[in-house]
Formats: sequence, C-alpha cells, structure tokens
Amino acid sequence: MTEKLAKVAEAMVTPGKGILAADESTGSIKKRLDSINTPSTEETRRDYREMLFSAKEGMSKYISGVILFDETIRQKGKNGTPLVDLIKSTGAIPGIKLDVGAKPLALSPKETVTEGLDGLRERIKDYVGLGAQFAKWRAVIDIGQGLPTHNSIHANAHALARYAALCQEGGLVPIVEPEVLMEGNHDIDTCMKVSEWALNELYRELYYAGVVLEGTILKPNMVVSGKDCAKQASREEVAEKTVTVLKRCVPSAVPGIAFLSGGQSDEDATAHLHYMNAIGNLPWKLTFSYGRALQAAALKTWKGKAENVAAAQSAFNHRAEMNSLAASGKWSQ
Ligand code: 13P
Repeated sequence: MTEKLAKVAEAMVTPGKGILAADESTGSIKKRLDSINTPSTEETRRDYREMLFSAKEGMSKYISGVILFDETIRQKGKNGTPLVDLIKSTGAIPGIKLDVGAKPLALSPKETVTEGLDGLRERIKDYVGLGAQFAKWRAVIDIGQGLPTHNSIHANAHALARYAALCQEGGLVPIVEPEVLMEGNHDIDTCMKVSEWALNELYRELYYAGVVLEGTILKPNMVVSGKDCAKQASREEVAEKTVTVLKRCVPSAVPGIAFLSGGQSDEDATAHLHYMNAIGNLPWKLTFSYGRALQAAALKTWKGKAENVAAAQSAFNHRAEMNSLAASGKWSQ
C-alpha cells in the first residue's frame, strides 16, 4: 500500500506539471459564477468545469491531477461521459476534497477548525469507488490581534493528521493544506513566523498519527506580506522566505509541495513559484495546486457562454503553461 501511495504522490508532482484545484464548494463556486453574471446551477457548474477539463492541451501537458468537489466527481459531461473519465483521458489523476469546511472554533470564535472527520472512513470508500486517488483537506489559520492561538494551530494540525491517516488507510494520497491567510495588514515576517509554527505542529501531528510522509503532498501558503500591509515584499523575498521556512519544517521524505494561490494575482503566483525553483537544490519538487490563479482568466473569458469555450480554454492553457515553466524555474515575464 505504501508503495502505491508513494507512486501516486510522485505522479502528482511530475516535473513540469501541477494540480488544478477545481473543488470550490457550492458557496464558493456561486461567488465565482456571480462574478460573470451566470446563475449557479448544477448545469452551469458542470459546463464550467467540463470546459476546463476538456482543455486538451493544457490538461495533458501541464496538469497532473484535479481536485474535485463531491458534486463534480459524480457528474457526467454533456455527452454522457463521466467527468472523472474525461480527466483520466488527459492523463490527469482525479482527487476529492474531503473536508466539509472551516467552522468556528469553540471558545475562540474568531478562529476556525476544519470539520469532516465523522464518517470519513466510509466516505473515503465511496470516493475510491468513484475513481479518486488522492484527497485534500484545508485548514485555515488567521493572523490578527493575538491570533492565531496555539489552540487553533494545534486543533487544525491534529485534524489534518487524523484525516491523512484515514486517507492512507483507505488508499488515498492526502494533500495536507494548512493555509495561513494573506488577509490582514501584518508584515511578511509575521507570516513567516506563523507559517513556521503551523508547519512544525503539522509534521509533529503527522508523525504521531503514523502517516507515511512519502505518500503525502503538502499544500502550503507562500510566505507573503499581508494583503493590506503598507510594505509589500518583493517576489525574490517571498521566494527566499518561503523556501527558508519549508527547509526548516518539511522533511525531505515528502515528495512534493504544491502551493495554493490564496488570492495572489495570476502573475504573482507564477513569478513566486518560478523564483523559488530558481533557487535550486531543493529536497522536494515545488509546483502549483492553484484554484483562482489557474482559473480566473478562463472564467472571465467564458462568461457562461458556449461560444466562448475555445477562447476560455486558450486562457486556461496559457496560465497552465506559465505555471509549468515556473515549476521548472524557466518562466520569464
Ligand atoms: P486558491 O489557489 O484559489 O487559493 O485555491 C486553492 C485551494 O485549493 C484552496 O483550498
């Protein structure tokens, strides 16, 4: 089992490829579709995602895996082909979001803990039957006055470890995602400190839970200045500080690190990944697992209209190609 998991994890970080996060919950995808004045229905959500998955060039050359939401892993495309089969036909691996969202942390109402552990063993069986080979769980860490607390760092790391162990027991590679949010006016060094804290706690909990690191992928935030911080760090500084934190905290047995984009501009997300890979001599693969930074241009071009599908797919292919170059340290502006 361990060997099989390690093989899937390796494939998820194939050189020059990265992961498409298309697992927006019903609430999040509604927001995205609202932004292009398109109603969010089962059909429009299907059409939008089918447009992305059938972008042949981008998918087959640059995408190693796709993270799906429960609805999508069960959906069929317009011509009746299951979307999972469409994804597999491009050579990409289907994955599933397993958490059910970040909920208020008891007695610490400004913080959250991610839920979804109850009944997870049975849900994993179901998703394996539907074709999933890996999974994702996102923990959310907020920076603010007196935040985060150790309670939230610990509760989230513990939940991630329990999820990861259940995934490996059931045959799925867990993506562990402890996201330190970029919302706020904190500086980059605060983000660095909190990211280091969250990652140290995470790897301690994964160890106690018996999780085999070779069969996992880490999906972290990059170390960046808070969105509202007056002093925004340069791209080179983001790359250097992110790599420094990862080297301090992430064992080299982890095959790959696939970043979230977290609200960065498309180009920043690409540039930061490029500068990190340009540093070289890293013990793990560094690639992308972007949601917004892979989809935003395509979504804006698509506008919910069938006649825009080809143009939207070109926009998606372009971002995927730029991020593929960045994953090899070969991107230039
Ligand atoms: P973003 O790249 O839009 O942050 O989404 C990635 C993701 O999967 C968040 O859980």
